Amino acid sequence: SLTVQERIKERSQRAMLGGGQHRIDAQHKRGKLTARERVQLLLDPESFIEYDKFVEHRCSDFGMGTKDDKFPGDSVVTGQGRINGRLVYVFSQDFTVFGGSLSGAHAQKICKIMDQALLVGAPVIGLNDSGGARIQEGVESLAGYADIFLRNVLSSGVVPQISLIMGPCAGGAVYSPALTDFTFMVKDTSYLFITGPDVVKSVTNEDVTQEDLGGAKTHTAISGVAHKAFENDIDALLNLREFFNFIPLNNRDPAPIRECQDPCDRLVPSLDTVVPMESTKAYDMLEIVSAIADEREFFELMPNYAKNIIIGFARMNGRTVGIVGNQPKVASGCLDINASVKGARFVRFCDAFNIPIITFVDVPGFLPGTSQEYGGIIRHGAKLLYAFAEATVPKITVITRKAYGGAYDVMSSKHLRGDLNYAWPTAEVAVMGAKGAVQIIFKGKGNEVEAEAEYVETFANPFPAAVRGFVDDIIEPATTRLRICRDLEMLANKKQTNPWKKHGNIPL
Ligand code: COA
Repeated sequence: SLTVQERIKERSQRAMLGGGQHRIDAQHKRGKLTARERVQLLLDPESFIEYDKFVEHRCSDFGMGTKDDKFPGDSVVTGQGRINGRLVYVFSQDFTVFGGSLSGAHAQKICKIMDQALLVGAPVIGLNDSGGARIQEGVESLAGYADIFLRNVLSSGVVPQISLIMGPCAGGAVYSPALTDFTFMVKDTSYLFITGPDVVKSVTNEDVTQEDLGGAKTHTAISGVAHKAFENDIDALLNLREFFNFIPLNNRDPAPIRECQDPCDRLVPSLDTVVPMESTKAYDMLEIVSAIADEREFFELMPNYAKNIIIGFARMNGRTVGIVGNQPKVASGCLDINASVKGARFVRFCDAFNIPIITFVDVPGFLPGTSQEYGGIIRHGAKLLYAFAEATVPKITVITRKAYGGAYDVMSSKHLRGDLNYAWPTAEVAVMGAKGAVQIIFKGKGNEVEAEAEYVETFANPFPAAVRGFVDDIIEPATTRLRICRDLEMLANKKQTNPWKKHGNIPL
């Protein structure tokens, strides 16, 4: 028989092979990398330190008890490593072992790294590729999911949690990604759904493909479940490394600062003419964001969902900032249900993790209509208002054009504790646009043309807000980058706390 040394070697080698070479080949044939290859690509070279390589599943029903049915490490690879030198915990589900299905042992391995990540204050990245609950294990597997969910919730707001879906993720399995801060997907090879097409057919009689039901396109454009999709495994993992560089390790650490080659006092003359003279004409808010950001770099999140608002990370003089902006190019940049929820969740992430928020405002108001009212725009719009109001991180707001009605208040206004609120000369801060306003207050009283001119003269400019101190200054657009960089420096030591509470009650 083998010596202990030989057994260690033998099992280690088997662990490296997961479910065996033919299953690895099948994984590759699908255009997918293996669990271990993914970890290697995600982390800095040689930095991965594996845990629990010898853990085995404990089920002996359905013929699962024989030696050949046990794979050292079971169906997930776990451990810690570095991304650009910064600590991160990782689990990577191994589809080659029982379809990456979640056994009690599999869940225990994930829980172990989640617990340690919370103890030391480091993010957790989950690479998901799993056929769901290990059917042979029954309730043990369900218990495993709940153990993970609980940790997802307790870690929320303490360490960043990121999910990358790289294969199937169905049934109960979807709720762990849903509880994490960010969910990314790989196009064509990943899907997320509560129940698959067959169950859908039998319950609702709908015919739908896996891809249409829960593929990357569905979740990045229709449901808003995922934040971004990437072309393939390699593209996704490399982008995840870029993304990781923006976020702090935990809620007590400041956001990382990267050395910046882009001069912080750089003027951006193009901004002086970016807003069209006609206030009904559209322009691209993304252009403004990238013109101002360090090296024009903007990591946009949810770019295909609720496009009337833009969110994402950039850097200003090397510091990570969260960007929120109305997008006049889409539905005039109005706020609707989806845009409010998209914005609110992002603002809350930034606030939880000490990331300053820069808000660009050009908003004609909330979107009117029965579908919005019936859908609960009041409740959902309140989320964005709540999120901006409770945020205690540095908040800088730039009104580029319209800031109308309740939406003016919502978009990180001075009244919600904005630290620095600026207006460009093109700003119009008013209850509503001139036409609508005149129709209401001068209805049937004649001289409406004159009244409209008076309204424009009075309200369609930055002064009503500026004379009241509701904006701190009217600035030349070209100087916006310079101003924001200087302000962030000044606000770096901002300390603000909210009244003690167990937790708030954000309108869900
Ligand atoms: N429990 C145990 N084993 C599972 C499993 C599960 N939930 N899901 C997949 N497997 C096993 C399969 O038995 C198969 O084993 P084998 O290679 O020894 O034959 C292997 O994983 C690969 O699965 P396979 O079905 O061949 O791959 P696929 O790519 O054709 O399909 C799924 C993948 C995920 C769509 C399919 O396996 C599936 O529907 N699984 C069940 C999903 C589910 O309902 N889970 C419960 C939800 S909580």
